[in-house]
Amino acid sequence: MILCTSRSLPEKFAIFLLSAQCQSRSRDLFSKMADELRFDGRVVLVTGAGGGLGKEYALAFASRGASVVVNDLGGDAKGGGKNSAAADKVVEEIRSRGGKAVADYNSVEDGDKVVQTALDAFGRIDVLINNAGILRDRSFGRTSDVDWDLVHRVHLRGAFKVTRAAWPHMRKQKYGKIIMTSSTSGVLGNFGQANYSAAKMGLIGLSNTLSIEGTKYNVLSNAIVPTAASRLTEGILPPDVFEALKPEYIAPFVVYLCHESCLETGGVFEMAGGWGAQLRWHESAGAMLRKGGVTVTPEMVRDNWTKITDWSGPVKEKTREENMTDLMTKIEEANATVPESKSLSMKEKTKQHKIAESSYTYEAKDVILYALGVGVTVQEDSSHLKFLYEGGDDFSTLPTFGVIPAQVYCSKIPSISWTSVTLELLNKCYDYQILILTFDISFQQQVLQFIRFD
Ligand SMILES: NC(=O)c1ccc[n+]([C@@H]2O[C@H](COP(=O)([O-])OP(=O)(O)OC[C@H]3O[C@@H](n4cnc5c(N)ncnc54)[C@H](O)[C@@H]3O)[C@@H](O)[C@H]2O)c1
Repeated sequence: MILCTSRSLPEKFAIFLLSAQCQSRSRDLFSKMADELRFDGRVVLVTGAGGGLGKEYALAFASRGASVVVNDLGGDAKGGGKNSAAADKVVEEIRSRGGKAVADYNSVEDGDKVVQTALDAFGRIDVLINNAGILRDRSFGRTSDVDWDLVHRVHLRGAFKVTRAAWPHMRKQKYGKIIMTSSTSGVLGNFGQANYSAAKMGLIGLSNTLSIEGTKYNVLSNAIVPTAASRLTEGILPPDVFEALKPEYIAPFVVYLCHESCLETGGVFEMAGGWGAQLRWHESAGAMLRKGGVTVTPEMVRDNWTKITDWSGPVKEKTREENMTDLMTKIEEANATVPESKSLSMKEKTKQHKIAESSYTYEAKDVILYALGVGVTVQEDSSHLKFLYEGGDDFSTLPTFGVIPAQVYCSKIPSISWTSVTLELLNKCYDYQILILTFDISFQQQVLQFIRFD
């Protein structure tokens, strides 16, 4: 999907010259200007705006009436050093063109300070472009803790810190536009950029969640995946490609995404050299292996792998909204293939599951008698003493003791007589045990009972 048809600056300049010569077109020009996406009264904070893409964003927003905070630490491409000159130069350029801008020299890691600069200078913050970035490329095996941490601190943690500082102000004023800068290295991976790609993918996740949490406050968040000539890509992109990928070609997309008329949120947009597109998640039709009430085994997964990864059928867009509904439909479908005797819908089962709670009190002697009753002895295994001797430190209840309260409970329900019972013990992930009892009642219904042992 092409996102935006905004003209690049040289094209606009051409329109001005043409219209000055041609009176009859002046009305067209006027309507074009009236149509211009403006940011008068808006405060835009661009991180890492001392050069490259950030600088272009700052210039573009300022040229459209925004008050701009030009944040830049002014370090080198690997994250070393600091210098106020980079941000100052951009501010100077904006002011010399009649725009409004202030510089901020803090690291994005000090998000509160960066946002405070916007509040102190302009009293609010409407648009936040998380753009600051560094590179510390290494093949994965050679990536040091420092390479990993520094890249994450600037890209992911930095974006988190600045956004979290801006968030309450945007929520309060019920207006905010946030951009997270991701990368094809995150979306597709890239040799030598494990640290960078992980952080860049994290930014997409962050943006997705902000879009969920922010929508009701009219705080919208999108991620961008730009490719442009800058100091970060110098030497990586071939010279002729480098020339065609001017950062100023990216700015119009970002400006549009942050305009009040653009209601996109939770999107990921890729752009390069004046081209733009939307990225989405898709999933194959997949395969439901749990049919006819069978248990899914790794062998079944192996035998169905071609189906699971088959993209020849209808491909579905993976949207957040439909994800859970989709899953429920699949589960319904799987349950519908269970033999008639067990084919209750999930809803019916859930209803049936709402059996009134009851409690059952038991003592040590009940537990010991049960253990003896089911044949527990110390002859076979001396550790079984814990089930038989209440004076021991590790005195325990045999987990299947859970059937006793369940039996007592079911015997109180006059219409129920069960034909079989299956037990499943869950004790791996809790500091207590859960026994799941599934009763087949007259081959027509199932009753699930969860028993918790503390
Ligand atoms: N250029 C591309 O093709 C491309 C592709 C994908 C993503 N990106 C991303 O776009 C963003 C801009 O990159 P660019 O190509 O313009 O590079 P750039 O190096 O020209 O700009 C990055 C700016 O961030 C600043 N910065 C670094 N650490 C900072 C910190 N802790 N606090 C504040 N400022 C800091 C730098 O001083 C620099 O001015 C980066 O996040 C980058 O990862 C760029």
